Amino acid sequence: MSILNNAVINYAHRGASGNYPENTMLAFAKAVEMGCDGIETDVQMTRDGVLVLIHDERVDRTTNGSGLVKDYSYAELCRLDAGLWYGASFAGAGIPRAEELLLLARDAGIRLNFEIKNGIVQYEFIEEKLIELIYSYGWQDLVILSSFNHYSMVHCKEIAPSLKTGLLYMEGLYRPGLYARTARADALHPYFYAVNEEIICEAHSEGLLVNTFTINDPAAMRRLVQTGVDGIITNYPDRLRSVMAELNC
Ligand code: G3P
Ligand code: MG
Repeated sequence: MSILNNAVINYAHRGASGNYPENTMLAFAKAVEMGCDGIETDVQMTRDGVLVLIHDERVDRTTNGSGLVKDYSYAELCRLDAGLWYGASFAGAGIPRAEELLLLARDAGIRLNFEIKNGIVQYEFIEEKLIELIYSYGWQDLVILSSFNHYSMVHCKEIAPSLKTGLLYMEGLYRPGLYARTARADALHPYFYAVNEEIICEAHSEGLLVNTFTINDPAAMRRLVQTGVDGIITNYPDRLRSVMAELNC
């Protein structure tokens, strides 16, 4: 079960991204208003080494710019609009820095799941920079790092053994609990189609948490809560709140 009041941890995926432009301070603040326990976000890095929160390696889909995040300086990235693509009323939203979210988390007392996006673009020292930042805000106990790049998660453990890590994956891995232990991880972060009771039991017997993504349908939320997952990553933290209330947890 979860580490917080035996309830499933409600992580808002890219903030309340079902209703607001993903990975913006607005989406994060709205997720807090909706009663999330934590926020999941995606970390990339600018040319001048600033950690920024944006899902894609390119800025094209979610801003009015084009090109790779790694080729922008932070000052250049600040000129882009990260709200307009979602709707005219969201114009003016920027791409947040990781520390802006850490400040919000500290104010609101919520957890954070930083997903390090270092599968396609290799950002040198992204793990070191992020970990240093998390510790400088004193928020390490309420943070879990995750990545599809499991080498990166092993590297994080080498830098900060007590910081929690989760292994993201999409497929039906065989004995993922055993695998995760070899990577010294604290959690599995599987795509929700890849979760079943057997996997959850094995993970729990290995002392691992199971946080699954991205579940937006209340019926699927209900099923996963009842199956025993520890955390659910959703674009609709308000829906998950309602499901949890319905199930009295
Ligand atoms: O961390 C869960 C989920 O965000 C992983 O996939 O592509 O939405 O970042 P993606
Ligand atoms: Mg993500």
